Amino acid sequence: MCGIVGILAERPVADLLVDGLRRLEYRGYDSAGVATLVDGVITTRRAVGKLQNLADRLQQEPLPGTVGIGHTRWATHGRPSEDNAHPHFSDRVAVVHNGIIENHRALRAELEAKQHRFKSETDTETIAHLITDYLQQGMTPQAATATALKRLEGAFAIGIIFAGHPNLLIGARRGSPLALGYGDQEMYLGSDALALAPLTNCISYLEEGDWIELTPGKAVVHDANDQVVERKIHQTNLSGAMIGKGQYRHFMLKEIFEQPAVIGDTLASLVTADNKMALPDLPFDWATVPRLTIVACGTAYYAGMVAKYWFEQLAHLPVEVDIASEFRYREAPLPQGGVTLAVSQSGETADTLAAISYAKKQGQKILAVVNVPQSSIARQADAVVPTLAGPEIGVASTKAYTTQLTVLLCLAVAAGVARGKLDAKRAAAILQAVREVPAQLNAVLRDEHKIQELAHHLAEARDVLYLARGALYPLALEGALKLKEISYIHAEGYPAGELKHGPIALIDEFMPVVVLAPHDALFEKTASNVQEVVARGGKVVLFSDAEGQAKIGTKPFWSMALPASDPVVAPLLYAVPVQLLAYYTALAKGTDVDQPRNLAKSVTVE
Ligand code: F6R
Repeated sequence: MCGIVGILAERPVADLLVDGLRRLEYRGYDSAGVATLVDGVITTRRAVGKLQNLADRLQQEPLPGTVGIGHTRWATHGRPSEDNAHPHFSDRVAVVHNGIIENHRALRAELEAKQHRFKSETDTETIAHLITDYLQQGMTPQAATATALKRLEGAFAIGIIFAGHPNLLIGARRGSPLALGYGDQEMYLGSDALALAPLTNCISYLEEGDWIELTPGKAVVHDANDQVVERKIHQTNLSGAMIGKGQYRHFMLKEIFEQPAVIGDTLASLVTADNKMALPDLPFDWATVPRLTIVACGTAYYAGMVAKYWFEQLAHLPVEVDIASEFRYREAPLPQGGVTLAVSQSGETADTLAAISYAKKQGQKILAVVNVPQSSIARQADAVVPTLAGPEIGVASTKAYTTQLTVLLCLAVAAGVARGKLDAKRAAAILQAVREVPAQLNAVLRDEHKIQELAHHLAEARDVLYLARGALYPLALEGALKLKEISYIHAEGYPAGELKHGPIALIDEFMPVVVLAPHDALFEKTASNVQEVVARGGKVVLFSDAEGQAKIGTKPFWSMALPASDPVVAPLLYAVPVQLLAYYTALAKGTDVDQPRNLAKSVTVE
C-alpha cells in the first residue's frame, strides 16, 4: 500500500526521494508526490499515475531542498487526484501518511471551525492541520507532533517536515511499519528497509507508538509515553542488485525462477542434510495441541489451506483455516492450549495482525510463518519460522507461496512425529521428497516455452475454471487468483468433485478448464471429471505426470507432463506451472504484470 520516504541530508533530496519511491512502487499506488523546504518554505510536486509522471514534473519544475518527504498513495479516502496525493500540507507543516485516521471527520470539523482550510478529501490532511494548530498555540514542532499523535485514532506511519526547520524531520508509527535509516550525517525514514537499500544498510525499526526526531547525524526515538528510548540498529543485507530485475522482464518472472533456490534455502534452514528436523524451539508441544487455527489472507490463506491437508493427514491434528478478515470478527471459540498460526509474506497485513491479536486474547500461542523477520506479525508472535524467499517485489505472490508451503510441510512432519502419527522412516522420506523439489522445478522451468504457447489461447478466454482435488484444490484457487490478479480474466477454482453441483453449467467450447491431476489416489475421480468436461465441449488444459497423461482416458485440448513425485509434495511442484500460466497469459494480454491495477503488495489497512 502507500509508501513513505523521508530524507534529511546536506545535498538536494528530491531525486533521492523519487529513487526511494521507485523501490516502493511494488507496494501498489495510484499517485505520488514529494515535498521539500525551499528557502524554509514548504514546496510540493505531486502527480497522478505512475511515478514517471512525478519524475517528469520534477524535470520541468526542479525542487531544491535538503530535507524532504515522498509518498506513493494507494487511494482509500478520496479518489486518485493531484489534490488528494500526498504530501498534504498547511503553510507550516507537510505530512506523508500510510494508514487510516479513523477519527478524521471529527478532527476535520473541529479544525475547520478554527478556520483551517482543507484542500483535499483525505484523512491525512487532518494531521497537517492538527499539528499546525498546536504550532499556532506556540508549541515546538516536537511538542506539537507529540500532542497531535495522542489525538489520532487508527493506524499510521507518518513523515513530517516543518516550514523554517531545514534540519528537522519527524516520523511516527502506530499500526503501520516505519524504518529509520542511519547515513553519514544523513538520516532517512522509509516504509521498509528496501526503500532505503542504496542509501544505508543500518536500519532501526520503530516500535508501536514510537515517534522519532531526526536532526543531522542524530536520531532521538520517543515511545508512546514520550520517553526517550533506544531501538536496536540492524545491519540489513539488502543491496540494490538484490532488488533489481536482473535478466528478467518482470519481477514476477524473476521470482518464479528463484523458487528452486529459495525453496532449497528454506528447507536447509529447517532440516539437516540427513533429513533430521532442525526447527526453532516452539513454545508448545505438538503432542498436546488440541487444535491448530490457521489465519491468513489471499495467497497466504491458500498456503494455509494446503497445510490443513498436511497437518490432518500427517499429524492427525484438527485444523481450522480462516480468512483473517472473517476470523477477526467471527468471535470463534478457541480451545485451551490451542495454537494459532499466521501465514504472511509481508508480516504487515492488517487483517492477519488483527486476527492474531484476537487469538492472543483467547489465550492461544501464536506461531508465525513470515517472510519479513522484523515485521509486525513476527514481533507479535510467540515464535517465528521464517520463509527465506528474499524480497518479493512482484505484486502477485509466487516464491513466498512455495516457501510458505515448504515451512508448513516441515511443521506438519514435525507435528506428525511428535504426535506419534508419522514414523521416522516416512518423515525422512517426505523430507527427501521436498529436497528433490528444486531439481524437479528446474525441469519444469526449462519447459516454460510450452506454457507460453498455451497462454496465447488462454488470453482469449473470458472465464477460466481451475479444478483439482485434495491438497491441490487450494492450488486451483490460487491458480484462479493469480490469473485474475494479473491478466484480469475472470477465473474460479473448484474442487473437481463439486463440478456436478453447479459449475458444470458453465462448460462450453469457449471455457478453458485447467485441471491439476497428478497420478495419485484421487486421480481416477478427477479423470472422470475431465471426461465430463470434454463430453460437453470444454477445453481441458491438463497438468499431470506421465502416468496421468497416459491414463486420462480422453484427449485434452492441451497437456503437460510434470515430474512424478511423492504426492505429498505435489502442491509445491504444481504451483510453478500455474504461476507461469498466469504470467504468460498476462504478458499476452499486455497488462502491467508487476503492478496490476488496483492492487497493493502489502495490505496494511482493513
Ligand atoms: C496474491 C497476493 C495476496 C497476498 C495477501 C496476503 O498474489 O499476493 O493475496 O497473499 O494480500 O499478503 P501477506 O502474505 O503479505 O500477508
